[in-house]
This record gives sequence, structure tokens and C-alpha cells, in this order.
Amino acid sequence: MNPISIAFHSYKGGTGKTTIACNFAAQLAKNGNQVGLLDLDIYAPSIQTYFEIEPKRWLNNYLNSSAELSDVIIDGSQFVKSGKFNSSPYKSEEKSTTNAGGSLWLGFSNPRSEEILQLETTGTSTAREILKKLILLKEKMLTDLKLDYLVIDTSPGIRTWSINALAISDILLLTLKSGDIDSKGTKRLVEDIYDTFTRHGSKSYLLYNRVQGYCMPPKDFLGAGNKGNNNNNIERTSWSGIESPPRFNASLGEPKLSQELGIKTISSIPCFCDIQFSEKEFLTVLNYPDHPFSYYVNQLITGIRTA
Ligand SMILES: Nc1ncnc2c1ncn2[C@@H]1O[C@H](COP(=O)(O)OP(=O)(O)O)[C@@H](O)[C@H]1O
Ligand SMILES: [Mg+2]
Repeated sequence: MNPISIAFHSYKGGTGKTTIACNFAAQLAKNGNQVGLLDLDIYAPSIQTYFEIEPKRWLNNYLNSSAELSDVIIDGSQFVKSGKFNSSPYKSEEKSTTNAGGSLWLGFSNPRSEEILQLETTGTSTAREILKKLILLKEKMLTDLKLDYLVIDTSPGIRTWSINALAISDILLLTLKSGDIDSKGTKRLVEDIYDTFTRHGSKSYLLYNRVQGYCMPPKDFLGAGNKGNNNNNIERTSWSGIESPPRFNASLGEPKLSQELGIKTISSIPCFCDIQFSEKEFLTVLNYPDHPFSYYVNQLITGIRTA
């Protein structure tokens, strides 16, 4: 299989790009793949909050030529391998293990405002060089780390860095938050940007997130250590397990939007209160492989493989 680069993008912020990108990358690594995960949301980086690692050097240092790629890419495989993830607000259970050979390589962006401003200035004055540097970054990661997948978290909208991130991606996932769809803005984004990339060989899909219809998974899925919100009064006693999760259909406007944009929907992920209201971000696929969210992440992986 040829390596694939996948960008999680959106018109607006807060659609779940980072949440899904991190879980998607971790699950791919857990399944035995060589995976890279890059935080190219340089304006509001947040991948690091899922991984309690403090890098010595950041992607910013590579992009402004003050560090080598090998200095800024961190091996995060040990977390996936142990299946124990400290970032969880819940008690971790050592349930999951990586299939032999899976790796997760992480590239974080620096959240300090002066670093963001510095890159933004560089981005506008030498956009071409930055794009060249990003293409090189992708090629180097694919070859040096023998990646199967490069997962890219991006900034929303059409700023220089968002476009650059899309430019190095084979598959563009336009993430929409259900019930908060700016169809005018999204249409403009598709016409102005996605259509061009698609003409040049990229594939694009709509990815609906936080679709209505389900709230908390049953208590069994969260284990005794659940310290999340107490909004667990929705009993799902009929839940029958990961083999047959209930189907959540996108609301009526969503298939229409997909038709209008001429872009297929790859997946519709429900909204889960325990994810939405947790005090700290955590990787559901590692901590709760039986959680229905993990099922949807796996379903997205299958969708991408057959895309
Ligand atoms: N399927 C989901 N169900 C419930 N909450 C979600 C879901 N996906 C994301 N969230 C929550 O939505 C918020 C925004 O998600 P985030 O991934 O940061 O969005 P973005 O990266 O697009 O700005 C976070 O608090 C996250 O935990
Ligand atoms: Mg984000």
C-alpha cells in the first residue's frame, strides 16, 4: 500500500478535528501501522494536550530552519504500546496493546504566541518556501520513518497554513459539527479550495461530527475510575457492544449539503457527553477501546482504506 496523508480540516473551529485526528492516528498505530501525526494548526496548536510530552524542539523550529526534522519529531509509540495513557481523567486500564511493529511519531507546534506570530510572518512573506519546506517534511517523514499514514491536524478556514497543510494531503476530510453548519461558508471553501485540490488528484470527503442521537455510553464502558461529569442518567441497558453500535443518521440538512457540494460523506460520528464535558482531553481509543467512539474511529479507518 502506498503511504497516505490525511488532513482534518474545517471551515469553522471546534468541529472535532484535533479530537478525531489524534484518536485516528493512535488507533492506526495500535493496529500495527507506522503513523505520523503533525500539528499544523499553527495558530491554535492543541495536539500536545492529548500527549503529556514536552518537546525540546517544535515543528516551528524545523519550519524556520532552526532545527533538523529528527530533533522535532517525537516517538510516541510507548503510549500506544502500553495502552496506558496518562492524559485520561479516568482510571486507565491496560487493555490495549499495539500490534507488532506499530509506531506513532508526533510533531507538535509551539502554542506560545510569539512563536505563532513568528511563523505567521514567515508564512506571508515567503509562502512558497514554507510550502516547499512542508513538502520536504512530508517526503522525509514518509521515507525516513517508512510511514503508512501521515495524519495532519490543520487550522480552520483558508489561511496560508491551512492551505499549505491541505496541499500536502492526499485525502481532505472536511469536518463539520452537526447542527452548526455554515453552509454558505462551507460552499465557498469547497468551490475556492477543495475543487482545485480535487482536480489535482486529492480526494475529499465530508466528516460529520457530534451528530445528535446518543449521549453517554453505559457505565460498563467507562470502568470504575470514571471521574467525568455525572450526567450519566441516560441508561443504555440495551447497548449490545461494539459489534453492533446503533446507527446515527445525519440530520436532514446534511445529506442535502453533501449533494450540493458534490462531496461524499465518509462518516457521521455521534456526540458523546463524556468526551464533550471531560475536564481534560484524552485518547478514547486507547483508554476505552470498547467505547462506541472507538468503533466510529475504526469505521473511519476502514472508510479511508477503501476511499
Ligand atoms: N464526537 C464528539 N462528542 C463529544 N464531544 C466531542 C466530539 N468530538 C469532539 N468533541 C469535543 O469538542 C471540542 C472541540 O473539539 P476539537 O477536537 O478541539 O475541535 P477542533 O480541533 O476542530 O477545534 C472538544 O472539547 C472535544 O472534546
Ligand atoms: Mg483543533
